[in-house]
Amino acid sequence: MKYVLAIDQGTTSTRAILFDEALAPVASAQEEFPQVFPKSGWVEHDPADLWATTAGTCREVVERAGIRGTDIVSIGITNQRETTIVWHRGTGKPIYNAIVWQDRRTADYCKSLRDDGHADMFADRTGLLVDPYFSSTKLKWILDNIDGARDMARRGELLFGTVDTYLIWKLTGGKVHATDATNAARTMLYDIRKGCWSRTICDLFDIPVQMLPEVKDSADDFGMCREDLFGQSIPICGVAGDQQAATIGQACFSPGMMKSTYGTGCFALLNTGDTPVRSNNRLLTTIAYQLDGKPTYALEGSIFIAGAVVQWLRDGLKIIREASETQPLAEQADDTQSVILVPAFTGLGAPYWNPECRGAVFGLTRNSGPNELAKAALESVGYQTRDLLDAMRADWRGDDSSGVLRVDGGMSASNWAMQFLADITGAPVDRPEVLETTALGVAWLAGMKIGAMPAQDEFAKQWALQRQFKPTMAEDARSQKYADWRRAVDCTLGY
Ligand code: G3P
Repeated sequence: MKYVLAIDQGTTSTRAILFDEALAPVASAQEEFPQVFPKSGWVEHDPADLWATTAGTCREVVERAGIRGTDIVSIGITNQRETTIVWHRGTGKPIYNAIVWQDRRTADYCKSLRDDGHADMFADRTGLLVDPYFSSTKLKWILDNIDGARDMARRGELLFGTVDTYLIWKLTGGKVHATDATNAARTMLYDIRKGCWSRTICDLFDIPVQMLPEVKDSADDFGMCREDLFGQSIPICGVAGDQQAATIGQACFSPGMMKSTYGTGCFALLNTGDTPVRSNNRLLTTIAYQLDGKPTYALEGSIFIAGAVVQWLRDGLKIIREASETQPLAEQADDTQSVILVPAFTGLGAPYWNPECRGAVFGLTRNSGPNELAKAALESVGYQTRDLLDAMRADWRGDDSSGVLRVDGGMSASNWAMQFLADITGAPVDRPEVLETTALGVAWLAGMKIGAMPAQDEFAKQWALQRQFKPTMAEDARSQKYADWRRAVDCTLGY
């Protein structure tokens, strides 16, 4: 039996998952690593932790599966996107910690770029809004703030990469400096239409182009991994940002298909085919995947607090001990109360993009308690998803959309939350058999590239439904509830 190894380097943990040729996950290993918060709004990772947990989980998964390293035929890497690392070409040593996608230190600079009228240029070229979320202003911050960095970069001594690029560099022993188009599309430096780094943006930020990685397809030759890691050299053949990998794992290959992944936050992507659609509703235009040199585009909406609202019930309010207790509480909630929680703990993401507003609860009575708050927490995820889907529907008028939303990630396990999602969006919600969609997506890229896994059509046919949630809520109730939510958001934004 031959295996494909998927490395999923995420924001809070690193995982390694082995898939067999039938695309079944056979073993996995996971390791968390420390989050570094040097100042309010700053979030960093030590690149040494990212590498140590990658090497550690890879070793562990091979042991757990009881296979030999030589049984692995291809490696795929999927990763937290946008997170920015700069290291020395000669020594391989990072010159600063990884600045994580959540980090807001460049918020003022982004505001000044918007005030100076650059937003349209960025939207045209990169498909993105000018926001600290993306890599380029983080990279500029490193070049501006670390002693001698810009001069070293000009002399070609420094390399930039998102986490995929850094791991490829480490895995290949410093031989390959590359990324894939989906990760490049999140840097706010990459021209998603022309398929190259934008000179204009590099000049604006004074970023030397020679420090940027080569951009490849999502299924491509990313070099051979060092022999000492698995006892033989294994090709790295698949790379994609984690949300794009989930889109692939959900087989959203036709225009109009969409998926939503519920982790700490929630990321929804709608495949728009070979056309990059410019959003009028503050969604992002991005690359879903690039195969055989051809990019497939997507509209993306991100919300910052999804699973994190359940963590807040547990760690902040302490009304549950485990996430799984949320559903039974919500089921017992008093239906006559209309408690609405706007979980703007770190501001609101798409389509509002307001980093300053903070969370609020509306409609409390003396009878409101843990049940009603648990229900409001789960409902808030449904409401926010509807915000995204409404924005997507307004932006993309392709008639081939079935309206079905494919879901994955931790919270998709909650039947209650998924039923509410179907009810409030008024569209079916499909939960697949394999919920490891992110790892599956990149394992397929890596396996397909070397011919060990089926071609795209065949892979799409293997996607299997575990359960479909159909909307059952009456139209007037749906409209009323959603109108209440929008009113609550307006009040939160105006507070
Ligand atoms: O854009 C950020 C996203 O890629 C992070 O995903 O799963 O590591 O929280 P995750």
